[in-house]
Amino acid sequence: METLELVENQPISSTNQEDFLPLNGTDYLELYVGNARQSAHYFQTAFGFQPVAHAGLATGLRDRESYVVQQGKIRLVLTSPLHADSDIGRHIDQHGDGVRVVALWVDDATRAFNETIRRGAKPYMQPTREQDDRGYVVRSGIHTYGDTIHVFVERNDYKGVFLPGYELWQPDYHPSDVGLKYVDHMVGNVGWHEMNVWMKFYHDVMGFQQLVSFDDKDISTEYTALMSKVMSNGNGRVKFPINEPAEGKKKSQIEEYLDFYGGPGVQHIAVATDNIVETVLALRQRGVEFLSVPDTYYDDLSERVGAIDEAMDTLRPLGILVDRDDEGYLLQIFTKPICPRPTLFFEIIQRKGARSFGKGNFKALFEAIEREQALRGTL
Ligand code: FE2
Repeated sequence: METLELVENQPISSTNQEDFLPLNGTDYLELYVGNARQSAHYFQTAFGFQPVAHAGLATGLRDRESYVVQQGKIRLVLTSPLHADSDIGRHIDQHGDGVRVVALWVDDATRAFNETIRRGAKPYMQPTREQDDRGYVVRSGIHTYGDTIHVFVERNDYKGVFLPGYELWQPDYHPSDVGLKYVDHMVGNVGWHEMNVWMKFYHDVMGFQQLVSFDDKDISTEYTALMSKVMSNGNGRVKFPINEPAEGKKKSQIEEYLDFYGGPGVQHIAVATDNIVETVLALRQRGVEFLSVPDTYYDDLSERVGAIDEAMDTLRPLGILVDRDDEGYLLQIFTKPICPRPTLFFEIIQRKGARSFGKGNFKALFEAIEREQALRGTL
C-alpha cells in the first residue's frame, strides 16, 4: 500500500496538488430511526434543535416520513419507513437507529460524483437534479464504510427550506437552542484490520490527507484498545477520525460497537460550541446523559493541562474534560449512547487553539466506558 503523505496537524491546502473534491462542509446527517417523529421531538427537547422541514404523506411521499431539525450549521434528517419490507426498515432492523447518510456540501455534485467514481468509489446515486419553485439542487452519492453513504449536495441555486419535496415545518413547540454551532468531526468505526483500507479510500477516492498530531498513537487501557487515525479534506472543514478495534484483555469498545451495529458505522458526531459550560449545563437540565468520569480525573488535571480559563470547580460537576496539545487546549464531553444499542453517541467540543481530538482524555474516557460496559455485561 502506498504511504500517505503526512502533514503535521495541517490539511493539504498548502500543497500544490489540486483539490479534486472541494467541500464546503457537512450538509446534513440523515439518521434512519424507528420513530422519526419521536426522534425529532427528542432532538428538539433534549438538544435544542430547531424544526425546519418535513416530508412524508402530507407532501406526497408514500414510503417514508422525514423531519429536518437544525442548530447552527448542524442539520439532522430523521427518517422512518411507513411500510414493512423497506430498505430503510431493513437498515433499522440490522443497525438500530443510526447514521445512514453523511451529506457533504459541494459546488458541483456531478463533478464530485465523477471524480470519486473515477478513483474507485462505488456509486450509490447518480447525479440527480431535483427542483421546485424555489430552485434546484443536484445530489449524487457514493458508498463508504458499512452501509454508510456519502451524498454530495449542490444547492447554490436553491432557496427552499431544505430540499425540493420538503415543506416548511413550523410546530408551535420549539425549545431554545443550547449553542451548538457546527459539526467539528464525525467518527467512523471500521472492522478489524480495516483501518488502512478506509484511510486509503479517503485518501485515494476523496483526496483527504491524514491529519497527524502528536497524539496519534494506539490507545489502550488495562482492558480495551483501539487504533484511531484522522482523515481531513483539503480545507479542513470535514474531518473523519477512523477507529478500528485492537487486542486488549477484554472486548474493545469498538468491537462492542461492531457487534451491536452489525458492522462498521458512525460512532460519534462531535458538535462544536463557543461555551461548553453553558451548553452542557443546558443539556444536562434537559435530560441529556453524559459519560461520567472518575472524580480523580480532576485531581491532576491542572498539572496535566496547565492554566486554563475555566475554573476546575465549574468543570468538575459538569464532567467536562480538558486536553492540551502544542497549539492550545480543548474542552470536550461525551454523551451516553442515544440508542438502546451501545452504538451512536454525541461529543460536545470547544476548541481553544487545539486542533487535536483529545487523546489525553481517551484513557479517562475509555475507563469510564469500560465501567458502563461492565454494567452491561459486555466487557
Ligand atoms: Fe471525537
